Amino acid sequence: MVSMPEVSNLEATISLGWKAAAYLWRSFTCSHTVGLVYDTINVLYPEGKPRPRHIVTYHTGFGWTLKYCLTPGCSFEDLLQKQGHLNDACRHFVDIERDSAGYVLINVYEGWLKSYYPYELLGDRGSMSLPIPIGYSAQGLEWYDLASAPHMLIAGESGKGKSNFLHGLIRALLPVAAVCVLDMKRLEYAYFGDRIRLAETEADGLKLLQAINQEMGRRIPLLKAAGCVNIQEYQGNEMPYLVLVIDEYAELRDKRILEIIERLVRLARAVGISVVAATQRPSSSVIDGDTKALFDARLCFRVADGINSRMVLGEHCSAAAYLPDIKGRAIFRGADRDKVVQTLHLPISQARKILPEEVIRFEPEPAKAIPV
Ligand SMILES: Nc1ncnc2c1ncn2[C@@H]1O[C@H](COP(=O)(O)OP(=O)(O)OP(=O)(O)O)[C@@H](O)[C@H]1O
Ligand SMILES: [Mg+2]
Repeated sequence: MVSMPEVSNLEATISLGWKAAAYLWRSFTCSHTVGLVYDTINVLYPEGKPRPRHIVTYHTGFGWTLKYCLTPGCSFEDLLQKQGHLNDACRHFVDIERDSAGYVLINVYEGWLKSYYPYELLGDRGSMSLPIPIGYSAQGLEWYDLASAPHMLIAGESGKGKSNFLHGLIRALLPVAAVCVLDMKRLEYAYFGDRIRLAETEADGLKLLQAINQEMGRRIPLLKAAGCVNIQEYQGNEMPYLVLVIDEYAELRDKRILEIIERLVRLARAVGISVVAATQRPSSSVIDGDTKALFDARLCFRVADGINSRMVLGEHCSAAAYLPDIKGRAIFRGADRDKVVQTLHLPISQARKILPEEVIRFEPEPAKAIPV
């Protein structure tokens, strides 16, 4: 007969054995990070309660994938809510998805991307109306159709690549949309010449925004008269896509400018007007929470802490604080799940050489005073 002390000795030996095996496994595979994911799942789902059952872990092109099976009483939604814990524990970007067989895949993105990809202009993007190259992810070069979710927020610390991304975005859009740029830092968009409408002072910015507001007012009745609910259904030529790019939202002080931007973000999606705004400071003192919620697409470069990351990517995602300190590294949230990307590098010297001849220009009607 086995006495109690012997059982507890046995348990202690088994537990020690497990720890040793886990230690050896981590040392052998060099993946301390995967071990941290195991530990976090074990803490979040204690023994004796419904918990995901680990099936297998394998190395992927981008890091590691841990495959789990959901046992009765354990929900996918609940596991998704815990993504923040996993990001915090392993200090790498972790995402959670389901495969076609219903298994849960926890993907750990650990040092797989190159830290540099030059900008490339690629041909036809087929069905996309406003194609933008976002950058390389684990799945290859990611393109995004700005027309599908028309407003985009870009955030990140100084020097991480927001403006560089905007240069590439503008270059990609010029042949398919009229582009207006608001750049209060007055730095670097002048080389586009008359291919874009550029405002570098608040007075010019206000005029430009009033013209865009007026353009929105012109488009709404046109759509109504044609019986269309949005620009995608509209057949005429007098309504090209229009994209307003704002480099450093936090520099805007004029209340009238901010009010028009908020109005555009709320009302302009159906009429083909998009807003792309970059900021170092995504807090609600800079960009109001309701307005921020209308920016469907997000690109978040490294930020100072989890709080800033959650301001951009939502309450469960602090991962932008743990991005490696690499210029151009960001988390992109588009139509589907979040992805880590390395944006394409387009220095201005290079951008000057690839300016297109044929562009779409915004030709506003003579300004009328429009109340906002
Ligand atoms: N994807 C990238 N790959 C390599 N280098 C990059 C990339 N993006 C930006 N850089 C480089 O990083 C530096 C800073 O980039 P950028 O000016 O875009 O930063 P920023 O986020 O706009 O900063 P700030 O908030 O101060 O305006 C530039 O020298 C730029 O060439
Ligand atoms: Mg910048």
